[in-house]
Amino acid sequence: MKTYRRIVILTGAGISAESGLGTFRDKDGLWTKYDLRDVATPEGFARDPAFVHEFYNARRRGLLTAQPNAAHHALARLEAEHAGEVLIVTQNVDDLHERAGNRNLIHMHGELARIRCGICETVTEHRADIDLATICATCGRAGAMRPHVVWFGEMPLLMDEIHEALEACDLFVSIGTSGTVYPAAGFVAQVRRGRRALTVELNLDPSDGHSLFAERRYGNASEIVPAFVDEILRGEI
Ligand code: APR
Repeated sequence: MKTYRRIVILTGAGISAESGLGTFRDKDGLWTKYDLRDVATPEGFARDPAFVHEFYNARRRGLLTAQPNAAHHALARLEAEHAGEVLIVTQNVDDLHERAGNRNLIHMHGELARIRCGICETVTEHRADIDLATICATCGRAGAMRPHVVWFGEMPLLMDEIHEALEACDLFVSIGTSGTVYPAAGFVAQVRRGRRALTVELNLDPSDGHSLFAERRYGNASEIVPAFVDEILRGEI
């Protein structure tokens, strides 16, 4: 019976695909409909903030109807039942991990359900639309509110904590990500350098970094993640 002491799970848009939230690079993905330079860069926001607000307002509204799926629930069960530590590092800005019950969670790319003031940097929970008239609840100024998401060219959040957890983990699992965006795409290589942990990829298709994983399983997250979690909890992996 193998018991992992520290598990780190990286998730991407693929884990929320079956909850009706689009991925980015698949057929019909968000980046086939929008130019990411227009909606996911500080320059794009400076050029046309109203267009960017509408993009994130629409995604935030999508959260209201989306529900966690079997893959999210399986990871919540793992955190609740596993004797060792389980940390979820998600690239996703949706709140489906929290709504499934995960608590030990890092949103490295920010959260759709939070907004940030570009003047006083205060981050507040916010689920309604925002625009240029939205006033910061802390400094009282309008016109500088933005989605609390990390855009291309910006530094992801809590990177020191993430690197520390990757150094210490004995099981690293990557779920629903194409492995195209750094620094997340570089996590498996960091873990391999440590030679301590088993590395596992769970995805619909092989990711860009698939050959770096010791074990790979392909299929819909809602099917392969619960089966994988069962095996961990039974000590069979
Ligand atoms: N089950 C499992 N995996 C799936 C499913 C599913 N039902 N549907 C799609 N996938 C996989 C795809 O095979 C693909 O490898 O999910 C991955 C989604 O890849 P991307 O769309 O590139 O999303 P992600 O890897 O999360 O993007 C990383 O890029 O655009 C930025 O900031 C954004 O966080 C995002 C980052």
